[in-house]
Amino acid sequence: MEISGYIFAMILAHTALLGSFMAATASIDLSTAVLIRVDQSGKGDFKKIQDAIDSVPPNNSQLVFISGKPGVYREKVVVPADKPFITLSGTKASNTIITWSHGGNIFESPTFSVLASDFVGRFLTIQNTYGSGDKAVALRVSGERAAFYGCRILSYQDTLLDDTGSHYYSNCYIEGATDFICGSAASIFESCHVHSISKNNGSITAQHRDSPTQNSGFTFLGCKITGTGSAYLGRPWGDHSTVVFALSYMSSAIVPAGWDSLGFPNQAKVHTYKNPEEKKFAKIRFI
Ligand SMILES: *[C@@H]1O[C@H](CO)[C@@H](O)[C@H](O)[C@H]1NC(C)=O
Ligand SMILES: *[C@@H]1O[C@H](CO)[C@@H](O)[C@H](O)[C@H]1NC(C)=O
Repeated sequence: MEISGYIFAMILAHTALLGSFMAATASIDLSTAVLIRVDQSGKGDFKKIQDAIDSVPPNNSQLVFISGKPGVYREKVVVPADKPFITLSGTKASNTIITWSHGGNIFESPTFSVLASDFVGRFLTIQNTYGSGDKAVALRVSGERAAFYGCRILSYQDTLLDDTGSHYYSNCYIEGATDFICGSAASIFESCHVHSISKNNGSITAQHRDSPTQNSGFTFLGCKITGTGSAYLGRPWGDHSTVVFALSYMSSAIVPAGWDSLGFPNQAKVHTYKNPEEKKFAKIRFI
């Protein structure tokens, strides 16, 4: 009962965050949007996604809808902090692909970085093709209030850096092997497919939270969790990492222990627990 009360508290907290999303968008004119078309054939306003974003004025206060024609966009994209209210939409995630290959630092490697508030991404594939061996973020989300619908987010290590802010992911496919949904944000993942490509005991999440009073955590609702090898649901990044899987299907790729807290000697040294029960991890297996 304690667990379910906890989950409801998380869901309520997140519902309040979504309420603040509505409040913020209510302050701008929702009846019109500026349309910018990106088309590699040259028939749109720009050929590159970054050029379209750069054309949005700083401190923008209008809705901007950037429509990307199908294509493979080989570019790194940054939505700067002073360009809020942008929606970037592909046609289908399978044919509107933003791709780059960069491994190393989590803040330098991302193929796509959202630093602005009130960003929406729809029907896009965002990938980092670096592969194994180093951190290689596909998508970094560091803005307040961001939402992603029907996106595919692909890499190996640290695929989705869900960095800071309150975020919503709906019907997304997220793939990786090591800590591939990580960061300090407060996020809901709804009806998403999370797929581990780790051969051996990789970790799906690494939620970062150092204090019990921080308002952050990942909630997976109605998701499908699968893998090709074996995977843990998560390992801690900080003493108060908070992750909930509720009403979600988990395949047998998820190791029965569920969570990993002690398997990494270096990390265990940094993150000590007086009592494993104090970890704010809840494992729920409802199908
Ligand atoms: C945007 O807003 C910030 C903060 O209010 C301000 O410092 C900056 O000068 C503005 N930039 C432009 C180009 O208006
Ligand atoms: C993976 O984790 C499980 C459960 O924690 C453990 O029994 C198993 O030995 C691990 N496998 C490998 C290859 O380390």
